[in-house]
Amino acid sequence: MRRAIYPGSFDPVTNGHLDVIARAAKLFDEVIVAVAVNDQKRGLFTADERTALIRGAVAGWKNVRVSRFDGLLVEFASAQGATAVVRGLRAVSDFEFEFQMALMNRKLDEQIETIFLMPAENYTYLSSRIVKEISRLGGNVDAFVPASVAGALREKLAARPA
Ligand code: PNS
Repeated sequence: MRRAIYPGSFDPVTNGHLDVIARAAKLFDEVIVAVAVNDQKRGLFTADERTALIRGAVAGWKNVRVSRFDGLLVEFASAQGATAVVRGLRAVSDFEFEFQMALMNRKLDEQIETIFLMPAENYTYLSSRIVKEISRLGGNVDAFVPASVAGALREKLAARPA
């Protein structure tokens, strides 16, 4: 059983993330999308909300499951019996941080390999941060996120004080 972890903040999940999950699911027997709970970043959505939004988006994807994790990624990966961590690389600007994280994770656990996958070109400009900004400013994000996420963004931002 070749199992991979696809970790991230997913605040919220975008079509770019889903593209990477679909690619990873073709390469591995099982992909665990791992939602970081204890990340330093303060999210718009809670970890439970982020997890539920991904679960909705990948419902019916046979070899994909969604889990929350806190603490060290390599410890979670090892406890899950995974041998790889998948990360998406959109552009050179992603590389520096990703390279540092991959090498540090290797230092922490030699058994876990990091694999980079490139999403389709039309997602290279997409990020959760930009989607939130567009939504906050009243723009339409339907092309960038699943319908359930677009709805959740509208609800969340409507409930927030201006
Ligand atoms: O979507 P993001 O915010 O780029 O994901 C970053 C994430 C959550 C994958 C990274 O911060 C992480 O792995 N956090 C867990 C804590 C950890 O293991 N830190 C050491 C990594 S070198």
